[in-house]
Amino acid sequence: MKKRCLVVTGGGDCPGLNAVIRAIVRRASLEKDWEIIGSLDAFNGILRDPMEIKVLDKPAVAGIHYRGGTILGTTNKYGPFAWLVQQKNGTWKEEDRSADMLRKLEFLKVEAIINIGGDGSQRISQKLFEMGCNIIGVPKTIDNDLSSTDCTFGFPTAVETATESLDKLVTTAASHNRIFIMEVMGREAGWIALHSALAGGAEICLIPEIPYNIEKVKNRISERIINGRGFVNIVIAEGAFPKEEKIQNHVSGAGIQLMNLLKDAGIETDIRVTILGHLQRGGTPIAYDRILATQFGVKAFELVLEKDFGKMVALRDKNIIAVPIDETIEKYNLVDVDSDLVHTARKIGICFGD
Ligand code: F6P
Repeated sequence: MKKRCLVVTGGGDCPGLNAVIRAIVRRASLEKDWEIIGSLDAFNGILRDPMEIKVLDKPAVAGIHYRGGTILGTTNKYGPFAWLVQQKNGTWKEEDRSADMLRKLEFLKVEAIINIGGDGSQRISQKLFEMGCNIIGVPKTIDNDLSSTDCTFGFPTAVETATESLDKLVTTAASHNRIFIMEVMGREAGWIALHSALAGGAEICLIPEIPYNIEKVKNRISERIINGRGFVNIVIAEGAFPKEEKIQNHVSGAGIQLMNLLKDAGIETDIRVTILGHLQRGGTPIAYDRILATQFGVKAFELVLEKDFGKMVALRDKNIIAVPIDETIEKYNLVDVDSDLVHTARKIGICFGD
């Protein structure tokens, strides 16, 4: 009987997931004694009764490299450590079913797991590793907020989508002499905002790492719109917040909040808010993401062959390396406000509202 490696995609989807799955399967097909199976909807497919798993051979992954989403399905709900179980009194309670899941994996003769996911998924990987699981992590998120890797696949595609959208908003903003606020994703990190603001020529870029002062934002707008003529394009990260709030206390809604603050501050120019939302997560991965995802997939399976478990694959200075999973979940990768990128943005006149 062949050795089995289980592949799982967890958390929010991200362009490039299918390219990772395909790469794992194609690399494994070079080994006569290995078979790849996938669990549907993260680990939930294993936990369900009957189990929902899929054999992943070369025909099953043919031509999926350019498809967005994941052929395995994904979720950030439930999982081995927080399975929702209805109690006798009708209420629902989260239960730890990890031991049960390990028994099921033993029954399936799974010898290794490749868990493709963001910080939440890699926390699960680490816990399973500590319970004795042979697990490898593959980082995934459009937010680019995972430390230990220079870049996560999906992020460049999200930046491309945001930049194209900004290009479109510029023409309508200019035609109408309006202020356009484009809110992008990223949770507590401003990576998508910063990159798309730079690429798309935004006047103002507001990110969670630099709390903004509404008066500073207003002043920049006033420099650009004179006697009702002129326009301003603002990119705001969903986690951005005004200085007065002291801490970031929301994800999403940042664009509307900014519009209201600008109106309260006396801005009379028409303001429109565009929330890009899940458009940034869907669709075809750009070539860079397909390539990075493919490199991650091949390396992940090679770590399985080397039995180098408890590691996450990562991009570091053009090389694909392995880093201990526990190191990667220690902290988030946020925009360094003293970095060259922020410096470049400031030197071409982008206002961060500080
Ligand atoms: O982490 C990826 C991400 O797209 C964030 O940028 C965003 O805040 C969140 O997921 C949205 O999650 P959901 O798909 O559950 O609405």
